[in-house]
Amino acid sequence: MTRRILVTSALPYANGSIHLGHLVEYIQTDIWVRFQKLRGNDCLYFCADDTHGTPVMIRARNEGIAPELLVQRMHEEHQADFKAFSIGFDNYYSTHSEENRILSEEIYCKNRDAGHVQTALVRQAYCNKDAMFLPDRFIRGTCPSCGALDQYGDACESCSATYAPLDLKQAKCALCGEPPVEKSSEHLFFRLSDFEPFLKEWTRSGALQAEMANKLDEWFESGLKNWDISRDAPYFGFEIPDAAGKYFYVWLDAPVGYMASTWNYCKRTGRSFDAYWRPGSTAEVYHFIGKDILYFHTLFWPAMLQGGGFRTPTAVFAHGFLTVNGQKMSKSRGTFINARHYLDHLDPEYLRYYYACKLSGRVDDLDLNLDDFVLRVNADMVGKVVNLASRTAGFIHKQFQGQLCPDYPADGGLYQSFVQAGEEIAAWYEAREYAKAMRAIMALADTANRYIEENAPWSLAKQQKEAELHAVCSVAINLFRVLLTYLAPVLPVMAERTRDLLNLPALTWEGCRLPLCGTTIKPFKHLMARVDPKQVEALLAAARPQELPPQSGEPVSPPPLPSSPPALATIPLESFAQVDLRVARIVQAELVAGADKLLKLNLDLGPLGPRTVFAGIRAAYSPESLTNRLTVVVANLLPRKMKFGLSEGMILAASREDNTDKTALFLLSPDAGAEPGMKIG
Ligand code: MSP
Ligand code: ZN
Repeated sequence: MTRRILVTSALPYANGSIHLGHLVEYIQTDIWVRFQKLRGNDCLYFCADDTHGTPVMIRARNEGIAPELLVQRMHEEHQADFKAFSIGFDNYYSTHSEENRILSEEIYCKNRDAGHVQTALVRQAYCNKDAMFLPDRFIRGTCPSCGALDQYGDACESCSATYAPLDLKQAKCALCGEPPVEKSSEHLFFRLSDFEPFLKEWTRSGALQAEMANKLDEWFESGLKNWDISRDAPYFGFEIPDAAGKYFYVWLDAPVGYMASTWNYCKRTGRSFDAYWRPGSTAEVYHFIGKDILYFHTLFWPAMLQGGGFRTPTAVFAHGFLTVNGQKMSKSRGTFINARHYLDHLDPEYLRYYYACKLSGRVDDLDLNLDDFVLRVNADMVGKVVNLASRTAGFIHKQFQGQLCPDYPADGGLYQSFVQAGEEIAAWYEAREYAKAMRAIMALADTANRYIEENAPWSLAKQQKEAELHAVCSVAINLFRVLLTYLAPVLPVMAERTRDLLNLPALTWEGCRLPLCGTTIKPFKHLMARVDPKQVEALLAAARPQELPPQSGEPVSPPPLPSSPPALATIPLESFAQVDLRVARIVQAELVAGADKLLKLNLDLGPLGPRTVFAGIRAAYSPESLTNRLTVVVANLLPRKMKFGLSEGMILAASREDNTDKTALFLLSPDAGAEPGMKIG
């Protein structure tokens, strides 16, 4: 039976950009959702921006714009970032929406009417100058415990003491610097303690990972405290229906955003909202969250839903925090990396794969070690996976008109063993044990590579053993297809390229139980490039704050250029690092009819596969003279459509700057011994 599944990731705050820490969660969730879809389940993935609260209000005020405008801008930015990382939300909405207001009010009113809301006076820091109550984070002062200067109002970053903001010494409003005064006002409280028996039962129903259930037991032991759900104006949020001038605290309407996003989607697609969220719903509902927001999702949220007359989540899955090179992300170390920074330098699928290799079903933190990242991606993705296709698809294409063997060849039970491994891999995905799934998949990739090594299609080709060559390459392509199906939740872009290469309508888990026979594949095209450590360096350089003072010993400004030679426009190293230069072997060169300056070159880039390049070197070289010659090619140039065909790169040659002598062309070549595909730089 197909399962009906609703999945959410925590809603990112609208006052900041998406960074690599956030992406742990969105990638983890997206992999799970894609896996469910690949298995044929009816799975929907919802998220939204978390828009309300003081930080958004203040930031908008500082920028001199309405909070709605800031929220709108961030919505677009977040969506673009998520799209680039292939985070496939079925709906990405906003908590600042009519649906969210209606649902938040419904939940509040039901709870209030059932007696779960009470009022109490709260003493709070207030800034007379800004005419507002100050949240903890908007007060700074001296830690009452250790005396550290300039600490936030809730906790000391130096000694980790926690305290009330009014306990800070020399407290100042973070907005205007004036000392705050004490003022009391009436607040609304949600009586969490009313829900203790319900929450204890829910905790034991299998909704939580073991580590989380333990944490909850601690919270139960220390007693459930009532929760302050109102804030005084000015506040960017929803005004409380029966309390003018008071607003829902952002964390009240934030999780309701999961429902608002569902509702908005259901209205658009004609689905039933009630079938997901009202009591009696048979759908599975899962929330993926970081460990920092456990309390909200395992106590307040299920209690609010219960009291509000809605169903409660099937389970909450918490993950740990990201560190970079073993340390907390840090702006000054250049390891506070925004999604945008990353996208400027590296392929998003690298990160998806790397995180998958590190993720488990537990709440452990995970480390992005950048050296390991380069090694892992290159060894596994390029070395083990892409290689399977790049070493065999060419033969199928050149020698067998792209057709796979009409009958699946004897492979010693290899294919069958790949299909069987699928069940274990599926179980790992289901349990969010992605690291284990990746290990199992790479073990299959090793097996497939061993098969190719042992059967050496390149020597079969040399010996003109056609039938054997056809069989070996057909087996390899079929194994490759199974691998890419298993990797599809992690690598949607590479999976799509594979689907296209194999001429299939879709890759599905069920679909790869039977091998492809007699079908035609397309010519092999680029699947994934190697990660270049220089790209990582460029990323770190870009993430480092620009205004850092120069390190001692470093020149403050570049030394003056000598005046006689022509001035060159200089570029930073990272611009050069973007150019991927490779050794290529010219397999064949031919004249191009109708273009007397061009030669068409068929290049071999080793592990990067074959390429066609049109080069304006006809005046200096005859086609024959180039056969088998090594040269240098720009391998990551956007392919250019020319009248005569697609040019997939550029080869390098020296010429006079004034270009007076068209025959003065000198093709660059590495010394003998260089191999096709080698990196130049
Ligand atoms: N707006 C709240 C969530 C409301 S859900 C109803 C929030 N937003 S957040 O932008 O701070 O974080 C969004 C998610 O990203 C959270 O689950 C959070 O745990 C996660 N992460 C934020 N930084 C992270 C790391 N450095 N590492 C791993 N996950 C992190 O919390
Ligand atoms: Zn102030």
